[in-house]
Amino acid sequence: PALERWVDEVPRPATQEPTGTKDGQPYYEIEMRESQQKLHRDLPETTVWGYEGSFPGPTIEAEQGEPIYVRWTNNLPDEHLFPVDTTVHGDIIPYDIEGVRTVTHLHGGNVEAASDGKARGWFTRDFAETGPDFEKKDYYYANDQPPATLWYHDHALGITRLNVYAGLSGFYLLRNDHERSLGLPDGEYEIPLVLQDRKFTDDGAMYYPDGPVESESPDPSIVPQFYGDVSTVNGKAWPRLSVEPRLYRFRLLNGANSRYYRLALLEYDEQSGETGAAGPEFVQIGTDGGLLPSPVELDGRLELGSAQRADVLVDFSEYAGETLLVHNDAPAMYRGQSRAEADDVEPLPEIMLIDVEEGEQTETNVPETLTRVPELSLEAVDTERYLPLLRSSDEYGRPLFLLGSEGNQSGHRLTDPATETPTVGDTELWSIPNLTGMSHPIHLHLVHFQVLGRQSVGYDPGDEIDPDSLRPPKQFERGWSDVVSVDPGEVVHILVHFGEYEGLFTDQTGEYMWHCHMIEHEDHDMMRPLDVRSTSE
Ligand code: C2O
Ligand code: CU
Repeated sequence: PALERWVDEVPRPATQEPTGTKDGQPYYEIEMRESQQKLHRDLPETTVWGYEGSFPGPTIEAEQGEPIYVRWTNNLPDEHLFPVDTTVHGDIIPYDIEGVRTVTHLHGGNVEAASDGKARGWFTRDFAETGPDFEKKDYYYANDQPPATLWYHDHALGITRLNVYAGLSGFYLLRNDHERSLGLPDGEYEIPLVLQDRKFTDDGAMYYPDGPVESESPDPSIVPQFYGDVSTVNGKAWPRLSVEPRLYRFRLLNGANSRYYRLALLEYDEQSGETGAAGPEFVQIGTDGGLLPSPVELDGRLELGSAQRADVLVDFSEYAGETLLVHNDAPAMYRGQSRAEADDVEPLPEIMLIDVEEGEQTETNVPETLTRVPELSLEAVDTERYLPLLRSSDEYGRPLFLLGSEGNQSGHRLTDPATETPTVGDTELWSIPNLTGMSHPIHLHLVHFQVLGRQSVGYDPGDEIDPDSLRPPKQFERGWSDVVSVDPGEVVHILVHFGEYEGLFTDQTGEYMWHCHMIEHEDHDMMRPLDVRSTSE
């Protein structure tokens, strides 16, 4: 259906209150359930799956140093909302059991392995059936890491793309006193915004394709990427936001399955639908893992791959009475080398409208410094890893994206023995060449890393790296990251420290995961164990 744009106000996710206490700490019980939700004025109510029945789920507000417990409960119906391809990890997933498998991962959480919510830790309704990595019902989040924009989402093996698409994701905001002392916009002036693309049928249902992409594919079949033709923000289709002519703080999250966003604010004429001059800049104050040392006024667009966050300030004080468009210029097949592929799918240029009210401009104060971010250095590296992104095809001839390692250029499958087995306390250099035809947002569980820089492919394992000759990290990817975007034809070098670092983060060991965060890729084997070992192992 052709939906009229900008007719609904963008909603704010509710804040989740604790249900009680456990061991003297706040205890939350959060239920995944099906519900009906109005996603657009002109659409009938849409069936969604949400945490507490809401798409996106309620925001968890947590405090650094104050642990919480969360029991994620599954009360979803027996049948999936979307077509399930039972050939995806068909050898290790019991597709014939009753109920829908779910498991919630706290993305960006420096958490114990048993509470990580990894792919094979799934469970069905009432924990009736559980996956091989299921360890406990009540997850423990220590919150012993810098304040940051984290998020939680489903991670069930083989159907993560479908569960997240159905609505299973939400914000987790971690705060501390230092951050509060900075005087950043708060309350109604601090707004979390999750950007997601969706497709709808005429009767208002969310649509997810059932393939097949190749004639010999199973039916239904996983698709290599998913791109929707409707922009949703906080679960509303093409919404608008009213702001006062003052400074705002936005917690931006790319919660889309595959799509990249490259954002700018443009002046917009609603009558003609034409965009005009550039609007206010994004002033970035934080990335995935927390605040930057100081605010950075972005010269260009802000790029967000799936799962990436940007904590930004926007000053609307010069724009009283104007309408601005949140504009996206990323093609769906991001940085795809083949034009044919890139042209094949819809771009999604219009994301959200912002109405700046008339009125008194308020004094705006952007702090000069934000926090201390200790740097990781190449000199401290204990282990170097060479981890190519590869394209292959599966037994049905479908594209299959895989993660390789030094000496393995054909790519590992999820079930191959762990090859990334760092020792806690060590610093590692991960060099990630992208030998495929599109960009991939690569995510590591547990840790936050720093981007050292990039070069063109041609780097071989063990080659000397001269940091000065690398392309430096982009303006919006400094500080602590847990997702890094790797463009085709380039090698990204990241520095990863496992365990506590200069008073930040904690020592954790056990099995975690790392993977591409385009969820169609993650589900289809672009995911590997990350096995953090203790020094005695
Ligand atoms: Cu946001 Cu392993 O995931
Ligand atoms: Cu990918």
